[in-house]
Amino acid sequence: MAKKRVAILISGRGSNMTALIEAAAAEDYPAQIVLVVSNRPQAAGLERARGAGIATIVVDHTAFAGDREAFERALDAKLRANDVELVCLAGFMRLLSPWFVTRWSGRMLNIHPSLLPQFKGLDTHRRALAARVARHGATVHFVVPEMDAGPIVAQDSVAVHDGDIEETLAARVLEVEHRLYPRALRAVAEGRTRA
Ligand code: GRF
Repeated sequence: MAKKRVAILISGRGSNMTALIEAAAAEDYPAQIVLVVSNRPQAAGLERARGAGIATIVVDHTAFAGDREAFERALDAKLRANDVELVCLAGFMRLLSPWFVTRWSGRMLNIHPSLLPQFKGLDTHRRALAARVARHGATVHFVVPEMDAGPIVAQDSVAVHDGDIEETLAARVLEVEHRLYPRALRAVAEGRTRA
């Protein structure tokens, strides 16, 4: 079967992006990363992607002067021009409108650093520590208009240790993320999930 054409959307360092690129380099992986898009020209992940030989594009949201629709139309045009079939959000820090989300419904994934539906939104590690949960983790889910909601594709957890601070917990969860996202994308690309 033909490999699914995947674009990864980033805003920052791109460690999950790198994990996906590395997984997709395997011959038997059902998806290929054809494009990395950043809304920030300075995102460190862009260099990493180029280093791996992946095409990169910047769609700088600040150039659209607050016109979210125009930004998203530009983004959508780039994805379509590259025959993208699946989109992976990986540390992409822009909220997407219902228009865009509906357009990519069932074909767009996000990774969130908590065991959803717990701790939607930002600062998940700090909030998990404050709530004194015994386990914390990461979730890959299909994107729906509501933020950090949508059908869950895969989840994995880690123990929260006594003495953990935000940074130590974040690092433990990030290791999980790097295994989880490639596994989840594989399942979606192979059609083993339902949006
Ligand atoms: C990750 O923790 C991811 O779960 C969240 O943003 C962070 C992105 O990190 N959505 P990176 O850019 O993939 O290194």
